[in-house]
Amino acid sequence: MACAIYPGSFDPVTKGHIDIIRRAAKMFDVLTVAVLNNSEKTPLFSVDERVNMLREVCKEIPNVKVDAFSGLTADYSKQQGTDVIIRGLRAITDFEYELQMAQTNRKILPSVDTVFLTTSLEYAYLSSSIVREVAAYGGDIHEFVPSYVAQKVYAKLETKKHGQSGRTYQ
Ligand code: PNS
Repeated sequence: MACAIYPGSFDPVTKGHIDIIRRAAKMFDVLTVAVLNNSEKTPLFSVDERVNMLREVCKEIPNVKVDAFSGLTADYSKQQGTDVIIRGLRAITDFEYELQMAQTNRKILPSVDTVFLTTSLEYAYLSSSIVREVAAYGGDIHEFVPSYVAQKVYAKLETKKHGQSGRTYQ
């Protein structure tokens, strides 16, 4: 079976991510979307919340699994029994960082390859941080994320505004 992983932060998943997931899922028997549990970042959503949102928005793509991981992506890919890492490339500004990551991953695990899918033009400007920022200033994010995710973002920001939670906004 041809398998691949699509690692990322997905804080939150955007329509740009979903576009990459749909296209990568057509190329592999199983695509695992893997949410990094990164203790160095303070995300808007907890890992579980991000995993649940991804499961909801990917539920109609049968060969997509959603998982969480900690540590190195190369180690996780080995653990998943695949040598293929999927990443989206939006613009030339992504290239340097993505090249560095792909080359680092090959240093760690020489058998691993990164397959880049160019983001569809309609989502080329889009990122999770743009979504968080627009929503934080009261803007409409329905063009950027599915409505299910938009509701979760607004609800989370509302909770945050009322100071009901700590640093990780569980
Ligand atoms: O969605 P993001 O934040 O651009 O995803 C970045 C991610 C999670 C793919 C990257 O930070 C990563 O692979 N982190 C795990 C640590 C690791 O393997 N580092 C070595 C490669 S730089």
